[in-house]
Amino acid sequence: MAEFIGAVDQGTTSTRFMIFDHGGNEIGRHQLEHEQILPRAGWVEHNPVEIWERTSAVLQSALNTTGLSSRDLAALGITNQRETAVVWDRRTGRPFYNAIVWQDTRTDRIAAALDRDGRGDVVRRKAGLPPATYFSAGKVQWILENVDGVREAAERGHAIFGNTDSWLMWNLTGGRDGGVHVTDVTNASRTMLMDLETLDWDDELLGFFGIPRQMLPEIKPSSSPDPYGLTRAAGPLSGEVALTGDLGDQQAATVGQVCFAPGEAKNTYGTGNFMLLNTGTELVRSKAGLLSTVCYRFGTEPAVYALEGSIAVTGSAVQWLRDQLGIISGAAQSESLARQVSDNGGVYFVPAFSGLFAPYWRSDARGAIVGLSRYNTNAHLARATLEAICYQSRDVAEAMAADSGVQLEVLKVDGGVTANELCMQIQADVLGVPVSRPVVAETTALGAAYAAGLAVGFWSSTDELRENWNEARRWVPRWTAEQRKTGYACWKKAVQRTLDWVD
Ligand code: G3P
Repeated sequence: MAEFIGAVDQGTTSTRFMIFDHGGNEIGRHQLEHEQILPRAGWVEHNPVEIWERTSAVLQSALNTTGLSSRDLAALGITNQRETAVVWDRRTGRPFYNAIVWQDTRTDRIAAALDRDGRGDVVRRKAGLPPATYFSAGKVQWILENVDGVREAAERGHAIFGNTDSWLMWNLTGGRDGGVHVTDVTNASRTMLMDLETLDWDDELLGFFGIPRQMLPEIKPSSSPDPYGLTRAAGPLSGEVALTGDLGDQQAATVGQVCFAPGEAKNTYGTGNFMLLNTGTELVRSKAGLLSTVCYRFGTEPAVYALEGSIAVTGSAVQWLRDQLGIISGAAQSESLARQVSDNGGVYFVPAFSGLFAPYWRSDARGAIVGLSRYNTNAHLARATLEAICYQSRDVAEAMAADSGVQLEVLKVDGGVTANELCMQIQADVLGVPVSRPVVAETTALGAAYAAGLAVGFWSSTDELRENWNEARRWVPRWTAEQRKTGYACWKKAVQRTLDWVD
């Protein structure tokens, strides 16, 4: 058997291709960013054609730089930014509109309407999700209602929908020349269109959004011994590789962190933060503002579920310090600036730029910086930004404890912000539990590789994958219980200000 597994990680800001060996070690990678298209306040789009071109480029160049070929890959996995909606024409391969990104809030009216007439409760019960702009269905409805010709094309079976996993798999397997139109259960669980118990598209939910069923991809397991398809020899890998793994990126990170037992959780720090708690084959319905979602489904085994706390703005708050305020020149400087002070100087920053996601789900919330006095400096604001990342995760951890009864003993972390040592120390302080980062911090791509490799016997079991996980760094809490209590109480008051802001 070939010695390596490849994984495409199509994220919100970039696309990377990584190659792993049997020990889960990185052998090579290439990564390219794509444009963030911001046509109006609250609108966020990506060009799907650019994403496909970037994907092709990273596949080719990672193989070139490692000197490997498609024959060295035992299988290929895909993981992706979830919820982001692409609608394209299966006859031409051209998108009808840009991809509408998960952060986009243009569908506020569609989401709010669901809660006015009781449909919202049906969405909660069947899809496990609160009506919100975050998920795919409203975005597809918006395209059907606002882009000329799409409704008719959808009814004739020409216009098809997918998240970026489906879009890339369709293109990789031949596009308009026989490309497969598939997704996996984890991605489907983020659309508001799939029933979490039947794991199938639900006609009542489709009716709420006016989406014809024939637009939707076939739902497959996240790890599939029967490949979703084969990459085309004429494509970027110049050979046929079996596509056997597909998961949304946060579920992939949960797999990469080997959270295979109920009660195991991870927190990924990217543009936003996403904490997932494995709840096993039991579907736990949140009473505390979390999402119920599919964690993964391997082959014909029963689906494993998760509770998820999604936070929209964490790493992107650090970018805001850099791009909009200009008080730092890069992410690393947020740490050095924040280290100039020993505490936040009374300042709390709630970066509710896309409203507030979990556990509040208030799309009308707007950001606030509170507690300012003349004493405060840029350094306090940088520190308050790092604290905001950690306090938002505490909000989610509290909700998880309330829903599941599971008290975190240690928090496994990954993602870009975990390079910020101060932020991780604050996270341990704010939570009062140790924070642990693995040696392979690219857990998202690794999780997609694991799913693909399990399907073809490259790895024999999840126990084997557990052996690949090694801790690189651990932060232990240093704050006193009193500091923790006072800080969190102030944070909650600051959050309340952002909720009070709009009538
Ligand atoms: O739900 C959105 C999430 O999947 C995006 O993750 O890492 O691309 O920002 P990321």
